[in-house]
Amino acid sequence: MAEDCILAIDQGTTSTRAIVFDRDGRPRASAQREFRQIYPADGWVEHDPEEIWASTLTVSRAALRDAEAKGLTVRAIGITNQRETSVVWERDSGRAIHDAIVWQDRRTAALCDKLRSPEVEQMVAERSGLRIDPYFSATKIAWILDNVDGARLKAEGGDLAFGTIDSFLLWRLTGGRVHATDATNACRTGLYNIHDMAWDPELLRLYRVPEALLPRVEDCTADFGTTDPELFGRPIPILGMAGDQQAAAIGQTCFSEGSIKSTYGTGCFVILNTGDQPVLSRNRLLTTICYRIGGKTTYAIEGSIFISGATVQWLRDGLGIIKRASDTEALARSTQSNAGVYLVPAFTGLGAPYWDSAARGGLFGLTRDTGPAQIARAALESVCYQTRDLFEAMAEDGVRPKALRVDGGMVANDWMLQFLADILAIPVDRPEVPETTALGAAYLAGLQAGLYGSLEEIAGQWRHQARFEPRLAEQDRKQLLQGWDAAVTRVRTG
Ligand code: G3P
Repeated sequence: MAEDCILAIDQGTTSTRAIVFDRDGRPRASAQREFRQIYPADGWVEHDPEEIWASTLTVSRAALRDAEAKGLTVRAIGITNQRETSVVWERDSGRAIHDAIVWQDRRTAALCDKLRSPEVEQMVAERSGLRIDPYFSATKIAWILDNVDGARLKAEGGDLAFGTIDSFLLWRLTGGRVHATDATNACRTGLYNIHDMAWDPELLRLYRVPEALLPRVEDCTADFGTTDPELFGRPIPILGMAGDQQAAAIGQTCFSEGSIKSTYGTGCFVILNTGDQPVLSRNRLLTTICYRIGGKTTYAIEGSIFISGATVQWLRDGLGIIKRASDTEALARSTQSNAGVYLVPAFTGLGAPYWDSAARGGLFGLTRDTGPAQIARAALESVCYQTRDLFEAMAEDGVRPKALRVDGGMVANDWMLQFLADILAIPVDRPEVPETTALGAAYLAGLQAGLYGSLEEIAGQWRHQARFEPRLAEQDRKQLLQGWDAAVTRVRTG
C-alpha cells in the first residue's frame, strides 16, 4: 500500500525548498533552488515574484516526482515562508505590480520615523504586538501604493491584491481562485489585531492601506484550496500554512507554555510560547501569534536578530578568510580564547532588543596578532551574545527558559552550540530532524489531513540528536559578557 506523505513548501529568503515528509516526520524526498537577491539601492532588498513562483514550481515538481518514484503518495501540501516580505498583484492578470519588498528592506525607515510618537507606538504595540519598523509589511505596502503609478486608486477600487509570500503562492497554486493567508503571517503585517483576530481599522488608517487589498485570514490548519490540476498533474489540497519562524516552533513541537526555540538562518529568531495569553514585552520584544488551530490562538514572544548566518557569509564572501561556512568551527577551536576581540554584526542596524536601524557593525579589540581565527571566533560568538541579549530581555519580562531547542543551518556547528550553552547558562538541544521549518508546515497539513490526531501526538515525535550542557565558570561568563556589552554600546546610535 502506498505510504501517505505531505509536501512542505518552504519559501525562504535565499532559497525555495520542497520536502516530502512521511508520517513519522522523516524527510523522504526534497529539492532546493536559490534565486536572485536584488539590491536596487543602499538598504533596499527585493525579490522577483516570478522567480519565487518559478522556483516553487520547479522544486515542488522535483520532490513530487522523486516521492512518487519511491512509492509515496502526497496527500496534502503545507506552505511556510519568509515572513513580512510583501507582494501586490493585479487580481485579473495575477501579475505583480512591483518586485516583492523583502523583510530586510529599510527603505521606509524615514516614513516610520514620521509615524512614531509615544502614543502611536503604544497603540500599535497594543493592537498588533509589533513596533513601528520597516521590517513589517505595512509601510512596504504603502510604499508600493505611493510609488507605482495609479496603484493607490486601483487598490481602493479592489483591483489589486496584497499578500505575504504564502498568500501569493496560494493564489498562484490555486490558479487565482483563493486569496487567503493564515494568522501567523497576518500578524506580521502590522495591520492585524492579535486580540480581535481581524484586520484593524485604526492600523489600516495609520499605515494608509485599503482593506480591499487584504486576504482572508484562516487558521494555520484549514482547507486553503486545491492546486490547479495543470500544475502537478492532479489537484492536491493545501491544508497547512505558517510563517517560517512559527513553523519552526511547530516543527520543534514547542506546544507547551514556556517552550522555546531559536532558528539560526540568515538572521536569528527566538520564539517563546506564552500559551493562550498575549504577553506584552516591556523590553522591546515582539508579541506574535505562535499558531492558531481549531480557532484557538496560542501566542508567543519573539526576538528577531537580523544578522546571524549572514555574518559567516561575510567571512566567506566579504573577507575571504574561510572557504566554507563549516571552516569556522576549526578556526574557533584553534584559539584558546577570543583574545578580547568582539564583532558586532550590525550590518543593517540592530534588531531586538535594541531596534537601532542607524547602528552599523564594529570589530573591536584588534591587536597585531589578531588573525582569521580570532575574527571567525568573534563572528560565532556574536551570534550567541545576541541570543543572550534576547534572553536578558525575556528575563526582564519575567521569563527564564530552562532549555533551548535550536535549528537552522548554523547549528551543525558544535563549537557554536557549546558556546551558546555556556553563554546562556542553560542546556541547548539540537533535534534529530534539522529541517524543522518545513517539518512544521508538514505537521500542520498532516493535522488537517487527519494523519495526526492531536498536537500531543506530534510532540511525541521530537527527538534530540545532541544536548550541549553549559560548562563555563560564571566568572568567565561574566567577563565575556562585559566585553560584548561594551562593544554593543560603542555601535549604538541612540
Ligand atoms: O521574519 C523574517 C523571517 O521569516 C525570515 O526567515 O529563514 O527566510 O531568513 P528566513
